[in-house]
Amino acid sequence: MTSVNVDLNGKIPNNVGLSEDAKLQRALEGWLPRYLDWWNEMGPSDFADKPVFLRTAVSVDPGGWAHYDYVRMPDYRWGIFLDPGNGPATIKAGDDAGKPAWLDVPGEHRNALRRIIVTQADTEPASVEQQRLLGHIAPSLYDLRNLFQVNVEEGRHLWAMVYLLHKFFGRDGRDEADELLLRRSGNADKPRILGAFNQPCDHWLSFFAFTMFTDRDGKYQLAALSESGFDPLARTTQFMLTEEAHHLFVGETGMDRIIKRSAELQKLDPNGDVRAQGGIDFDLIQRTINYWYTYSLDLFGGEVSSNASTFFATGLKGRYREEQYSDHLALEGSYRLPVIEGGRMVENDVPLRTAMNEVLRDAYVADCERALRKWNKTLEASGSPTRLTLPSRRFHRHQGIYADHHFDPQGNLISAEQYAANQARWVLVPEDNTYLLSIMKPVYEPGKFANWIAPPAKGIEGRPMDFEYVKVHA
Ligand SMILES: [Fe+2]
Ligand SMILES: [Fe+2]
Repeated sequence: MTSVNVDLNGKIPNNVGLSEDAKLQRALEGWLPRYLDWWNEMGPSDFADKPVFLRTAVSVDPGGWAHYDYVRMPDYRWGIFLDPGNGPATIKAGDDAGKPAWLDVPGEHRNALRRIIVTQADTEPASVEQQRLLGHIAPSLYDLRNLFQVNVEEGRHLWAMVYLLHKFFGRDGRDEADELLLRRSGNADKPRILGAFNQPCDHWLSFFAFTMFTDRDGKYQLAALSESGFDPLARTTQFMLTEEAHHLFVGETGMDRIIKRSAELQKLDPNGDVRAQGGIDFDLIQRTINYWYTYSLDLFGGEVSSNASTFFATGLKGRYREEQYSDHLALEGSYRLPVIEGGRMVENDVPLRTAMNEVLRDAYVADCERALRKWNKTLEASGSPTRLTLPSRRFHRHQGIYADHHFDPQGNLISAEQYAANQARWVLVPEDNTYLLSIMKPVYEPGKFANWIAPPAKGIEGRPMDFEYVKVHA
């Protein structure tokens, strides 16, 4: 059982009783310098000596788990925190729902759990690598600080997963923890595990879309793992979700602020030409939504999946907020799925358990639709006639049953030629990056914002907008 006591004074802050487990403590303290080497090589480029107004997890008390202060990023206190939970945990889903949760890894689930943890863990350093150059073109100190906040917390999430690997998976786990520092986002020889985490994130439009859509996938994956029968994993991911909320906030409000500013520039220009005013036009915003939303949809896995069925049946994963369901077995019922047969689209009913990836994807899609409604409210309030949409979940897919076919953004089956002829209108293309990089120049003056984005509604942790969130001149 995990200790609730927080140790903030050791080399590795934690509430997992690290000082009582000398072997584990030694192993993790041995991993620490290698992690720092990785951070210094692949974390935010430059800025290592600049004080950043950062939030650090220092407790698991929901009322006050974070401490805010200026920190230089390499000095950040990456800690290991598990949600204390309330009382003895039970298995939440599947055949053994209601039985006591596992405090250790059951032998028969060892390989599956290790794979699940490694796959989640790999996304954390991957995103830091994808974002490493963005500080050089930040639209404000407020945004620069948010970027770094996201980066250090993804680093902490890596720690959270590496703790599980070291503590519960012996030699294999230690090897996996080492491998996590060796793969590189976008590297042809040793890429990160999942597709979206190898896509370049060259500019802030992609950064906001990434934190909106790809971090949001992370939220749903973590939520499914927080329903795991493996109690240490459930508690670890539960606490990660508290930090993840801020990443999603950064993405959703970042997109909203760009949309708001583009609407202002649209109004300002005699021809309604946002680009003529140095802003980001709505077609480009739509292409960015289409690109990152669909890469993020891929992360949920196959629509019909025997793995998903097994993970649910054995209690390794649950659904999003499993407690909202009364039936935790999911043996009855089916899921209606549009599939391609003989070159046309038909609907098939598949057993519910095999469609668990799709059930989780549904929760994600609904959440994204909510954000789109909000952004369209912003457009409406600005008097803009433009409206943004989410493309069909069949469009631009690289995983699952739709990946071998081509669809338009409305989800209609089209030919490869039709797709190729329209691709540049539908998803981000290299010319988009060229344009965005041409307008994204760093703004490091407190309280000032780049021309292409509106200021946020308020500052961080009660600080004013012109607060020096990063002391870039220190
Ligand atoms: Fe994360
Ligand atoms: Fe995140």
